[in-house]
Amino acid sequence: MDMLYPKLRKADILVLATPVYVPLPDYFQSFLNRLLPLMNPVLKTMPNGRTRAITNKDVIIKKIVLVSTCGWWEMGNFNVVLHIAKELAANMSVEFAGAVLRPHADYMVPEDKETKKVLENCELAGFQLIKEGKMHPDILKQISKPLIKRKNYIDENI
Ligand SMILES: Cc1cc2nc3c(=O)[nH]c(=O)nc-3n(C[C@H](O)[C@H](O)[C@H](O)COP(=O)(O)O)c2cc1C
Repeated sequence: MDMLYPKLRKADILVLATPVYVPLPDYFQSFLNRLLPLMNPVLKTMPNGRTRAITNKDVIIKKIVLVSTCGWWEMGNFNVVLHIAKELAANMSVEFAGAVLRPHADYMVPEDKETKKVLENCELAGFQLIKEGKMHPDILKQISKPLIKRKNYIDENI
C-alpha cells in the first residue's frame, strides 16, 4: 500500500480488477479495506438517507470501474462482486462508471478469433472511458458475450 497510496492520490479513475472467488480473493478484500486512509473521517448523510464517507481533499478519484473474470457460464456469477464495487463507489461518493465482465474466462484461447475480438473490445472500452467518460453498453455486452453455448458448457463441465 505504501507504493499504491501515492498512485491512488494521483488517479482520477480507480479501476478495480479481480477474479470472482466466491465472491472475492482475500487480497482484493484487503486492498478495499486499506482504501480507508483515503477517506475523510467525517461522515455525510446522503439524500437517500444512507450514511456515506467522502474522500480526503487530496484524492481526485471521480469514477470507479470494475474489471472481472469468472469461471462459470452465467453473468449472475458477477452479482456479488458487482454489488461490492457499486457499494464502494457509493460509499466513497463517486460515480460507478461500469463493469468489464468476462464470464467462462477459461474459454478465452490465445489466437482464437472470438477471443481477439473480446480483447479488442476491452481496449476500445478503455479508450471510451478516457475520451468520453463512459464505456458504451454495446461494447460491454460484446466483451461478455458467450464463447460457448450454455448447453455445450454444461455437457463439457457438469
Ligand atoms: C477459490 C476460487 C473460487 C472461485 N469461485 C468462483 C465462483 O464462485 N464463480 C465463478 O464463476 N468462478 C469462480 N472461480 C473461477 C475464477 O473466477 C476464474 O477461473 C478466473 O478466471 C480466475 O482468474 P485468475 O486465474 O486470475 O485467478 C473460482 C476460482 C477459484 C480459484
